[in-house]
Amino acid sequence: MIITVAGMKGGVGKTTTAIQLAGNLAELGSTCLIDGDPNQSALNWARRSNSLPFEVMGVHQAARAARKYEHLIMDTKARPDLDELRDLVEGCDLLIIPTTPDSLALEGMKLTLHALEELNAKNFRVLLTIIPPAPSRQGDDAREALCGANIPVFERGIRRTVAFQTAAAEGVLVGQIKSSDQAISGARDYEIVTEELCSAVGLRSHSVTA
Ligand SMILES: Nc1ncnc2c1ncn2[C@@H]1O[C@H](COP(=O)(O)OP(=O)(O)O)[C@@H](O)[C@H]1O
Ligand SMILES: [Mg+2]
Repeated sequence: MIITVAGMKGGVGKTTTAIQLAGNLAELGSTCLIDGDPNQSALNWARRSNSLPFEVMGVHQAARAARKYEHLIMDTKARPDLDELRDLVEGCDLLIIPTTPDSLALEGMKLTLHALEELNAKNFRVLLTIIPPAPSRQGDDAREALCGANIPVFERGIRRTVAFQTAAAEGVLVGQIKSSDQAISGARDYEIVTEELCSAVGLRSHSVTA
């Protein structure tokens, strides 16, 4: 399957999402993460430890190598223009649009959603990320607003935890960090999103949680 992570805003967890999902998909089949962001954040993440369980490569390398893999995850730069977004959404099974639950980010995401509507795209789903812990209700409120507007959104969101910053700094998956409760709950959120993802594209996912 081909999964693309995209959106108008930077800093909403696109690269983190691409890395964590690629880690989960690698348990289901050979997986390659294609870094489509000129900033090369995913490539740099991988270089820090050289211990990720999947390949990370740039788009130019990917043209030749992609056919070897069962699953491709594409990380992208923020703010694709309409033509780029058309290319992205037509080239994947599912486009994931991460957003934080604050009103500024949700407002920014509407641009992406309008563009997808214009393109008549149906294969996308919003992922709420960096959700502040209770007693904040920001995550729930954002989900309710999205559902109320009939926008497809992953049931599970990704909670805010410093473990993701540690994982990025160390160049590993959050699940590879020495077990802290924060790292475990961060890994769990992405596992559940992977299950939703697999059922959205019709792929059996039992081994993710086995
Ligand atoms: N669930 C999370 N909790 C806390 N920090 C996060 C979470 N997801 C991402 N981050 C941090 O937020 C920042 C932006 O994330 P990143 O994945 O690089 O976003 P993008 O690719 O959209 O620019 C990074 O410092 C990252 O470690
Ligand atoms: Mg990024």
